Amino acid sequence: MTTFVDLCSDSPIVDAETAQFTPRQADVFPVGPHAPGLDIVGAGTTVPLATGGSIEYANLDHGASAPALRAVKETVDAVLERYASVHRGAGFHSQLCTSLYEGAREPIRQFVGGRADDAVIYTRNTTDSFNLLAHCLPAGTTVIVFETEHHAALLPWRGHRVIRLAAPDSPAAAVDAVERAVALAPEGPKLVVVTGASNVTGEIWPIADLADAAHAGGARLALDAAQLAPHRPFSISEFGADYVALSGHKLYAPYGSGVLVGRADWLAEAPPYLVGGGATATVGDHSTTWKPLPERHEAGTPNVAGVVALATACHVLRQADPYALADIESRLSERLSSELARIPGVTVHSLWGPAADSIGVVTFTLKSLPANLVASALSAEWGIGVRDGAFCAQPFVRKLLGDAGCASPDGSGHAIRASIGLGTTGEHVERLLAAVRRLAEFGPALEYTVVDSRPQPVADVREQPVLAPWLG
Ligand code: ALA
Repeated sequence: MTTFVDLCSDSPIVDAETAQFTPRQADVFPVGPHAPGLDIVGAGTTVPLATGGSIEYANLDHGASAPALRAVKETVDAVLERYASVHRGAGFHSQLCTSLYEGAREPIRQFVGGRADDAVIYTRNTTDSFNLLAHCLPAGTTVIVFETEHHAALLPWRGHRVIRLAAPDSPAAAVDAVERAVALAPEGPKLVVVTGASNVTGEIWPIADLADAAHAGGARLALDAAQLAPHRPFSISEFGADYVALSGHKLYAPYGSGVLVGRADWLAEAPPYLVGGGATATVGDHSTTWKPLPERHEAGTPNVAGVVALATACHVLRQADPYALADIESRLSERLSSELARIPGVTVHSLWGPAADSIGVVTFTLKSLPANLVASALSAEWGIGVRDGAFCAQPFVRKLLGDAGCASPDGSGHAIRASIGLGTTGEHVERLLAAVRRLAEFGPALEYTVVDSRPQPVADVREQPVLAPWLG
């Protein structure tokens, strides 16, 4: 029997044959799913190891996409039993689905703290929400955005005048930069776009102060809550934010729906984002008139399952004690980042230093190993899922890692990101720490070769389960 024993005295152990994992610090952090009552679909599922055997999957990639809440799946399953077209049908099930589709706007509005007169427009995800907002900006709008944003918030504004601000070295510097940029921007409408929490460093941005700074200079503020919403309660009306965008797939509702909530005027005046049925009031031989909000921007048969899923996640998360959840997550996250930083050769990256308030997103690099090899070994040898690369935030990751980190062909820099979610346990965190300690000191246990740009074990006994009838 081979037993991996890490060299640190307080480290956990993994038995390579039984894959039995024993954290030794179970008393200092929660060891079960850290959100009782918020059951996650797939929690406890095992995955094969390339070395043979299997182990409970340690999903530390919630920042990219989160598994469904059990309550979300059960609600969607119930709705699918009665699924029918919305808006168009007279049948009982059509009317039921229409009620669900329209009724879902309210729990979503409540979840984001929207004002009574805010528009709630369904989209596919955060990227879609910001493309919709970009489409609706009045002519001559100046958009002010930090280079630290992920691509969904950084790029949709290309048809407008864009002021891209350098990464600020503190939250106060971010507010100063917005104040200056708004004052210097030409006359006309102005929009500041900023994340609530970075998808790279997890750091929480001072949204209320940024909204004040934006408003003082006559600008509006759009909040990217893609990362913040799954981790912390917030209210756009309390922040003073004018718009918010988020994705269901990061909010435990991975059914293809997102939302844009905010001031109705620009959205109501713009032509439809998508042109087609559902958005039309009258279609003549030579002219078309369009419906008001929200249908105006929701052309085509809508994603009822996705909308129901998103509203259910919003409802369930709003019922939970979000402050207790944030507290537990902070303990896991603090343990993860502080212990990673203690490992020789490991750098934990942040913009504002370790004391900054953060959600459970930790990005790090190993001096001795490329990020993609580390991520592959974590999966193949330890059953841990993380994301590696630049996390759809290439300018920011380039800035964080500096030239030394820019080894990738696209020059974007490569790092590893571990992101905590509702299904994360203390054991997952300890397993990652044990694995990184071992990788930093000894490298991977297996030999790897690159297949489709991704290192894969040369000898790999893992087989993917056949989950779809068209496979196998
Ligand atoms: N923004 C997504 C992520 O951080 C794509 O992984």
